[in-house]
Amino acid sequence: QLFKIACIPGDGIGVDITNAAIQVLQKLSETVGHFAFKFENLDWSSEAYKERGYYMPEDGLEYLKKFDAIYFGAVGWPDVPDHISLWGLILPIRNALNQYVNVRPTRVLRGINSPLKNCGTRDLDWVIIRENSEGEYAGHGGTTHAHSSNTVATEVSIFTRVGIERIFRFAFETAKSRPRKKLTMVTKSNAQRHGMVLWDKIFTEITKEYPDVETDKMLVDAMTVRMVLQPQSLDTIVATNLHADILSDLAAALSGSIGIAPSSNLDPTRENPSMFEPIHGSAPDIAGKGIANPIGAFWSAAEMVRWLGLEEAGEGLITCIENVTEAGMKTKDLGGSSNTKDVTDAVCKEIENV
Ligand code: NAI
Ligand code: MG
Repeated sequence: QLFKIACIPGDGIGVDITNAAIQVLQKLSETVGHFAFKFENLDWSSEAYKERGYYMPEDGLEYLKKFDAIYFGAVGWPDVPDHISLWGLILPIRNALNQYVNVRPTRVLRGINSPLKNCGTRDLDWVIIRENSEGEYAGHGGTTHAHSSNTVATEVSIFTRVGIERIFRFAFETAKSRPRKKLTMVTKSNAQRHGMVLWDKIFTEITKEYPDVETDKMLVDAMTVRMVLQPQSLDTIVATNLHADILSDLAAALSGSIGIAPSSNLDPTRENPSMFEPIHGSAPDIAGKGIANPIGAFWSAAEMVRWLGLEEAGEGLITCIENVTEAGMKTKDLGGSSNTKDVTDAVCKEIENV
């Protein structure tokens, strides 16, 4: 079985960790044997933008549709405004390919210390389901009187019944598939009185379809406190595009480092390819030093492998990653002194041995 994968390394450490992930995926396919990957590298980066004036060619989104999956590093570089880079690449891909779910698992991997006291794997094991197509990142709004002292800018969130129902159904199905069958819904429906109230209303409706899933609701501010003080009380979490973006960075930090956390941008209908990327950005402060933590990239690659139907190989890769962290091989962000290459080589070796 041959899978065609589009690789978009992007900027900064996105390049290092994508190369590392390709190496690991290649090792995995060679070792397991019954599948292979054909990678195509797309140089859609801020560097290219500065040269050509665009991130993606005009037919870029259409072009991506011919792949089985997309592997993404990170985009953003200090000399291009961040809203230009995000809207030049990652956000249009998510939108055009109907990737309306962003799945962000968080777990304290074996051998990694959470900054929370006495917090081990069983105390922090969450899946954050992020609405990935609308809400606060709908891109609507505008600026008037831009060059006067009366400037007004609006940032309009858009929430639709269709968008809310489909993300809730995915979240309930996820919760149902996990041992604890527990779903927490996050809003800010005390202050945001339209879209977030619609979230509450539809959540109550859909809850009735899933009698075997235990549910509760949190306001996003209180949720940050609960994540820190009672991590054991949470399992599956569903939140809006912005809220889940923020909560998942916190979740990653609580599990040890932002460098560990994976994400899957999914089109659950499978009509379009899905996209897999670590949740971190291009990290200009450590770019080019060879010290980026590649674990989030490997875990994202494992999620891609699972999505492609190779469940056992994906699970196997996660086990290999954890064997390496348990053996104490860690990058600086985790308190270790290994570099990207050390960790990559160790994971490849582990794949050979398992
Ligand atoms: P960031 O995630 O790039 O970095 C935040 C901090 O975490 C930095 O100190 C960085 O060194 C550290 N860090 C991140 N990943 C790491 C890794 N794998 N190993 C070790 N340390 C790691 O977030 P920041 O600084 O806010 O954004 C930098 C650029 O990335 C911006 O242009 C931003 O717009 C972009 N960005 C892009 C994303 C994407 O492509 N999906 C997501 C988030 C940010
Ligand atoms: Mg983010």
